[in-house]
Amino acid sequence: MIKKAVIPAAGLGTRFLPVTKSQPKEMLPIVDKPTIQYVVEEAVASGITDILIITGKGKRSMEDHFDRNFELEFLLKKAGKTTSLAELQKISDLDVDIHFIRQKEQLGLGHAILQAKSHIGNEPFVVLLGDSLILSEKPCTKQLLEVYAKYKAPIIGLENVPKEKVSSYGIVAGESIAKDVYKLSDLIEKPSPSSAPSTLAIAARYVLPPEIFSILEKTAPGVGGEIQLTDALRELAKRQAVYGYCFAAKRYDIGNRLDYVKAILEIGCKRPDIGEKLRAFIKEYAKTL
Ligand code: UTP
Repeated sequence: MIKKAVIPAAGLGTRFLPVTKSQPKEMLPIVDKPTIQYVVEEAVASGITDILIITGKGKRSMEDHFDRNFELEFLLKKAGKTTSLAELQKISDLDVDIHFIRQKEQLGLGHAILQAKSHIGNEPFVVLLGDSLILSEKPCTKQLLEVYAKYKAPIIGLENVPKEKVSSYGIVAGESIAKDVYKLSDLIEKPSPSSAPSTLAIAARYVLPPEIFSILEKTAPGVGGEIQLTDALRELAKRQAVYGYCFAAKRYDIGNRLDYVKAILEIGCKRPDIGEKLRAFIKEYAKTL
């Protein structure tokens, strides 16, 4: 049973400046809840009981968010704002241990995950990117863990993307072995559309073995001068079987402006408090487009 998760959330978020100059992109709200809270809730709903969040400079608000705020709780209680109080306590009462470690230099996703080495030890673990919101009936990480239970090998979450977008992702080559499951033969970070082996993109959720750490330690900087997780996974796939799973879910990359706005609309439309009014507004507004 995999119980530990790593959530890398130390990136600079340069695609989302200027807000990310002084705000972690993982704290950007989807309506009124920060993205990282959705990610933590997905992990908890998938059976994870221990989470290590990789943070960095200027990301303190994430620690405060998952901590208790006694003064605010006291004031809400005094004012009789019981709904807000319950909402607040739900966060700090989540049934999970949350730890933080800082990545001192933003040397890439692979380097961020390497910071988890001593916390994880010698057991498999899951990785959920802190800036990716994945909406599905069954939590995405749970879907991956079910595939892991069958194959007992690393599982990479995959998503089919349009061919012209492959150069924004890590892309895999592999052989289909069951519905939505691929045995991977290669992984390439940000290939050009003409050299991409498929349109299956690595999509923000992973089940990884502890062997990935010793590989990451030896992984040289790749695309963009960053230590790329994709390069380490490529090496892992040479040493042992690695599988990809095309999950059933909708993914929003919050570091991408359009995805961010779409996520707010989708979640907003489903909310019991504002959903009906927002849907009516969208219908009216669409007539003016
Ligand atoms: P991204 O590449 O999307 O994040 O990394 P970024 O570097 O912050 O984004 P841009 O390109 O500058 O806009 C995916 C996830 O990995 C984390 C990010 O916080 C994000 O959740 N990450 C990335 C780290 O933790 N450390 C890094 O050095 C890089």
